[in-house]
Amino acid sequence: MTGTTTASGTPTTTSPPEPGGVAPQPDDRALKAKHRAMWASGDYPALAREVISELGPVLAAAAGTGPGQRVLDVAAGSGNAAVPAAVTGADVVACDLAPELFADGRRRAAEAGVGVTWVEADAEGLPFDDGEFDAVMSCVGVMFAPHHAASAAELLRVCRPGGTLALLSWTPAGFVGQLFATMKPYAPPPPAGAQPPPLWGDEAHVRALLGDGAEVLTAERRTLRVDRFAARGAFREYFASHYGPTISVYRAVAGDAARVAALDAALDDLAARSTGADGAMEWEYLLLTARRSGAPASTGTGTATGTGTGAAPATS
Ligand SMILES: C[S@@+](CC[C@H](N)C(=O)[O-])C[C@H]1O[C@@H](n2cnc3c(N)ncnc32)[C@H](O)[C@@H]1O
Repeated sequence: MTGTTTASGTPTTTSPPEPGGVAPQPDDRALKAKHRAMWASGDYPALAREVISELGPVLAAAAGTGPGQRVLDVAAGSGNAAVPAAVTGADVVACDLAPELFADGRRRAAEAGVGVTWVEADAEGLPFDDGEFDAVMSCVGVMFAPHHAASAAELLRVCRPGGTLALLSWTPAGFVGQLFATMKPYAPPPPAGAQPPPLWGDEAHVRALLGDGAEVLTAERRTLRVDRFAARGAFREYFASHYGPTISVYRAVAGDAARVAALDAALDDLAARSTGADGAMEWEYLLLTARRSGAPASTGTGTATGTGTGAAPATS
């Protein structure tokens, strides 16, 4: 890993470059700052523990993590996949745009009795060397970086030839994909060039992003059973208080009581029609694994130097 600290250990203040070494544009910096604040709002770590904790071990197993392996969890949040990967004996780096989530991750790692290195980083400009990791994984994480080709190129760049990529992403047709479609009419228009997160749940899209940089080994659609939102309104209330993207959409319509009521109804209806007679929902995701090809990434993106994020890595 390079560039997160100076030789004296002082955190750098350099902005991370875009892949290809071009400094991010002011608009992009503003967008990323907005995204960081969004994911730091509410209580995402509680949601990760209470609703989707099963996914972390699923992804770590798919990535084949274990002793002697150096593993990167991209957009790791509070370590939902990073901590289970560390439990398998791997040497794990967890990186995320929102370091506010790391405190909970450190607690999770301590509870599990493992060490994880936490690094503030944008998935579109990772502060790591080419081929530094044996496995690179992301659990419903990298899908939220707005420029898909840029982040895919970075995943490929930091994975060694022959290494493993493992990606778990909500599908467009599944519950979370539908959640984003339901919230869209109430959200401000996305900035030009930003792509919808659930596209990462479309196998053809991910294959196109990886191109000849990796050979897809498995691609499987699975579901996560969620049974805590059976009562009408329960899903909406939980997401409106815990989940950054939902909190942000409610903020956008806050001054308009009719729009707030329409959004309430749309979310309640989505949850109701997605809940079975047993009170449970099945949230569909795509679990994809790939082997990094031997050839260098054809995009020519990323550099091994100067990708400081201004945050020093820390192991806990
Ligand atoms: C739904 S959460 C998933 C977190 C974690 N992987 C999990 O399974 O709980 C999405 C994560 O993506 C992170 N994220 C969003 N945009 C990012 C970007 N451009 N670079 C790195 N992380 C990003 C957010 O901060 C958030 O932690």
